[in-house]
Amino acid sequence: VAVESAPAIVVGSGYGAAVAALRLGQAGIRTLVIEMGRLWNTAGADGKVFCNTANPDQRSMWFKTRTEAPLASFLWLDVVNKDINPYPGVLDRVHFANMSVFVGRGVGGGSLVNGSMAVTPLQSYFAEQFPTVDTAEMYSTYFPRARAMLGVNTIDPAWFESTEWYQFSRVSRKHAANTGLKTTFVPSVYDFGYMQREAAGTAVKSALGQEVIYGNNYGKKSLDKSYLAAALGTGNVTIHTMEKVRGISRASDGSWLLTADRIDATGAVVETKQYGCTYLFLGGGSLGTSELLVRARQTGTLPALDASVGAGWGPNGNVMLGRANHLWDTVGANQSTMPVMGIDDWANTDNPVFAEIAPLPTGLEHWVSLYLAITKNPQRAAFSWANGALNLNWSAAQSSVSSGMAKKLFDRINSANTTVYRSDLFGTPSRTFADDFTYHPLGGCVLGKATDNYGRVKGYSKLYVTDGSLVPGNIGVNPFVTITALAERTMARVLAEDTAP
Ligand code: FDA
Repeated sequence: VAVESAPAIVVGSGYGAAVAALRLGQAGIRTLVIEMGRLWNTAGADGKVFCNTANPDQRSMWFKTRTEAPLASFLWLDVVNKDINPYPGVLDRVHFANMSVFVGRGVGGGSLVNGSMAVTPLQSYFAEQFPTVDTAEMYSTYFPRARAMLGVNTIDPAWFESTEWYQFSRVSRKHAANTGLKTTFVPSVYDFGYMQREAAGTAVKSALGQEVIYGNNYGKKSLDKSYLAAALGTGNVTIHTMEKVRGISRASDGSWLLTADRIDATGAVVETKQYGCTYLFLGGGSLGTSELLVRARQTGTLPALDASVGAGWGPNGNVMLGRANHLWDTVGANQSTMPVMGIDDWANTDNPVFAEIAPLPTGLEHWVSLYLAITKNPQRAAFSWANGALNLNWSAAQSSVSSGMAKKLFDRINSANTTVYRSDLFGTPSRTFADDFTYHPLGGCVLGKATDNYGRVKGYSKLYVTDGSLVPGNIGVNPFVTITALAERTMARVLAEDTAP
C-alpha cells in the first residue's frame, strides 16, 4: 500500500487542530491536515453554502434521515425537525447511552456550527481545573494570543440597549436583576459591525436570518477565516477532506502510521489510505481524539498509553431550559441567533452556575426565555472501545446533578418574577430540563494525566493532543477560547523543544 508522508500530520480541523496547523506551517514544517467533514465553500441550489434553522436540508446534519435539533418541539408539537437526505452535513449529534453530543463536521470543526461566544474562564477556576499550568502565563500570553487570532469582538452596548434583535436578552437580564443576580456581556467571534448592517438592511442577514448550528453564511469568523486561512497562507499546510482517520500505529523507525477511510457524499468508503509522519497532532475533539486513543490502546496498536486515556470526561454541566414569561414581557419576534449575555452566579459557592441567555428565533412572539446553563457538575465519565464502537459510561443520574443545579438557580428566578418553566420544548414526555445533551464535550485525554503538562501523550514521543479532550470535563464557560489558548501554549513549547533539527 502506498504511504503518503509529511513531516507533521494534524487530525481534525477544529480549534486545537487549527492552532497546530498554523504554528507548524509558520515554523516551516510541511503539514497535512486530515478532516472527515467537507470543505464548506460551495453554494447549494439556493445560492448559499449553509441552510438556516427554519428550513434545514441535507446540509444540516451528518448522515441523518431527520434533523435532531436541540429543541425537539414547540407546544409539544413535532414542528421543529424535518426529514432530510443522508449527507455529510455540518452538524453531528453523536448518541451514547445517556448522553448525546453535538459536534461540528467540516473544515473548521465546531467553529462552523457554534454560537460564537468567546469567553475566557475565571482565572481562579482555570487554576483549579489546571493546577499544573502556569496560570499567570496563560492570562498574560496565551489567552490574549488566542483572542486576537480568533477575532474576538464585543457588542456596542448602546446598540444592544436599543435594538429589537436583543430584546430577548434584556428581558432575561431584567428577570435576573429582579432576583438579585448579576448578568455579564459575553464577547463573540461574530462581527457586530456586520450584524448592525444586517439590522439596517444593508447586509445579507445571517445571525438576524435564523442562521446558527447548521452554519452561518456571513458575519461569523469561523476558523476557516482565521487560523486555517493563515495556516494555508504559510504555504506549508495542505488539507485533505472527507477522510476519517481510524487507526494509529508506530513504525519500527519510530514514525507514525495512520489509516484513513475516504468517503463520498453517500458515506461509502471509496478508498483506504495510509499516511506516515514524524510528528502527530490529534485535534479530533473530545470524541474524535478519545476514540482514536482508546481504540489504539484496546486493539493493541499503542499498548503503552496511560490508563487515564479515555477518562475525565464531562459535558461542562450543560442544561437547556425555557421559562414562560408574562404576556407583557415580550421577547420579540426578531431575535439574533448569537447570544451576547449570561447570568453569572459562578461565585455562589453553594451552587455555581453560568447561564447563557439563548435566543429562540422563530420569527414569532412566543414569550419564551431560553437558557443554556453551564453548571459546576463534578461528575466524570470514561470512554471505552468495545464491540467496534466508542462507548461512554455517563449515567442519567450524573446528568441530574447538572439539572438539579440549574433548577436551584432558575427556581429562584421564577419565584422572584412569578413565572414558570416551559415543559413543551424537549419532546414528549414533557420535560423541563434538557440535561441529556451537550454542546461542550470535554476530556478523555486530560492534560497532566494522559499527557504531560504540555499535551505530549504519555508513553510515546512526538504524539500530541491539542483539543478539548485535554480539558477535565468542565471549565465553567463556553470552551473554545480555553481550547485555543491551551493549544497555543502546547505549540509554543513543542516548537521550541521537540522539533528542532
Ligand atoms: P472540534 O470538535 O471543533 O473539531 C474536531 C474536528 O475533527 C471536527 O471537524 C471533526 O469532524 C474532526 N474529526 C474528528 N475525528 C476525526 C477523525 N478520526 N478523522 C478526521 N477528522 C476527525 N463553544 C464556545 O466556546 N462558544 C459557543 O458559543 C459555543 N457554541 C456551540 C454551539 C454548538 C451547536 C456546538 C455543537 C458547540 C458549541 N460550542 C461553543 C463548543 C465548541 O464548538 C467546541 O468546544 C469546540 O469546537 C471544540 O474544539 P476542538 O478543537 O476540541 O474540536
